[in-house]
Amino acid sequence: MEHLERRLPLALLLLLPVLSFFLLFCSVSWCVVSDAEEQKCLDLASNATARNIRGTLQCVRGFNTRDCMEKIKNGTVDACSMFADDIYAAGLCQGLDVAAGESHNGVDGIGYYVVAMARRSSSDLSLLEMHERSSCHPGIRTTVGWTVPIGYLVNTSQISVGEQCNFPRAVGNFFGYSCVPGIKDPLHDPRGNNPKNLCEACIGDENDRHICANNPRERHYGESGALRCVAENLGDVAFVKHTTVFDNLDGKNQESWALDLELEDLKLLCPDGTEAALDDFERCHLAAVPANAVVVRLEDKCRVWKYLERLQNAFGNATEGFSLFSSAGYGESDLLFSDSTHHLQRVLGSYTSWLGPSYTTMLQAFECEGTRDAVFLHISK
Ligand SMILES: *[C@@H]1O[C@H](CO)[C@@H](O)[C@H](O)[C@H]1NC(C)=O
Ligand SMILES: *[C@@H]1O[C@H](CO)[C@@H](O)[C@H](O)[C@H]1NC(C)=O
Ligand SMILES: *[C@@H]1O[C@H](CO)[C@@H](O)[C@H](O)[C@H]1NC(C)=O
Ligand SMILES: *[C@@H]1O[C@H](CO)[C@@H](O)[C@H](O)[C@H]1NC(C)=O
Repeated sequence: MEHLERRLPLALLLLLPVLSFFLLFCSVSWCVVSDAEEQKCLDLASNATARNIRGTLQCVRGFNTRDCMEKIKNGTVDACSMFADDIYAAGLCQGLDVAAGESHNGVDGIGYYVVAMARRSSSDLSLLEMHERSSCHPGIRTTVGWTVPIGYLVNTSQISVGEQCNFPRAVGNFFGYSCVPGIKDPLHDPRGNNPKNLCEACIGDENDRHICANNPRERHYGESGALRCVAENLGDVAFVKHTTVFDNLDGKNQESWALDLELEDLKLLCPDGTEAALDDFERCHLAAVPANAVVVRLEDKCRVWKYLERLQNAFGNATEGFSLFSSAGYGESDLLFSDSTHHLQRVLGSYTSWLGPSYTTMLQAFECEGTRDAVFLHISK
């Protein structure tokens, strides 16, 4: 007996590393950034345990995406779902990779296309000759309203930011009267010298207040606002998603400008200088922006994918009980994954393969800004 008692602790001690390796290997910790997301994560974890799914899920609270990125890097957490711009920063600056990405259409990982939209009656309009034209952007430092269109203008040598790397100044010198909501916000314009013409096509609220504000009080804010700006003839071109116009048609938007909107009155401008019909966005777009993907450390790609695969087999198509791609009941949308996710697909290539060539080219235009800070300022949610 005495013999055994003395041996037992030793045996346990020897087993401990094996045991903890096993536990670690079988658990995935997820970085969540809001109360609602944390609650969905905890429900997923307990439902997975209840269904005897191999492995365990831990939910760790992060302050924001940037904090989650650092926590993944230093091993505090394993995974976090991120937007395209953040995936680029995580890959380029932190050496992280992606394990899986969302597919919305069930075929590929494209989230949406960024398109340039104009009134059909505007003749002589070419994306290759936008100098002094007026433009309508959803907002400063947004993917749709800033990164992609400005990246395109840099890539086609229409604007050049020079040594100072001053994008607002270069864009202000290039366009005529335009609307870039938020361009004069202290956060984006600490010295107060961003060009005023980038607010001249903004209209503010009904009482002419909040002109150029980085929120919906500015009626030309956001993708619908940018479309309105072109529909009302205040801008020649709007940079929007391929879905924006359809989201505002058929009474889905009850504002009078939207009720007056006719598909036949609009067209797409293509990057090669030609034009196309609105439904031709797969051919005629500035960039295909990838859907969200799960950022991990390189060595965890396989492990995290295997666990996600088990989770989506159990909860991806749920008609009752916990549903992986729904946020109903949590008071917010797109928790853990986008609600429009059809399934998660494995990413075998590097994060750049997920981002795709057109979108990566656009981001490269901003390299002089120091990708880290530039990309983190982008409003992704
Ligand atoms: C890891 O990074 C996070 C976020 O920066 C920090 O709060 C935490 O203390 C770090 N942990 C370790 C072990 O370095
Ligand atoms: C759900 O079911 C459909 C049809 O059987 C299938 O195509 C899809 O991949 C499934 N989704 C998930 C997440 O398993
Ligand atoms: C499963 O998730 C639902 C929410 O969809 C939650 O109400 C329930 O408590 C969870 N079940 C278990 C066993 O944790
Ligand atoms: C960037 O510019 C190059 C050269 O002008 C062109 O070949 C390439 O297609 C452009 N890329 C994109 C994504 O527009």
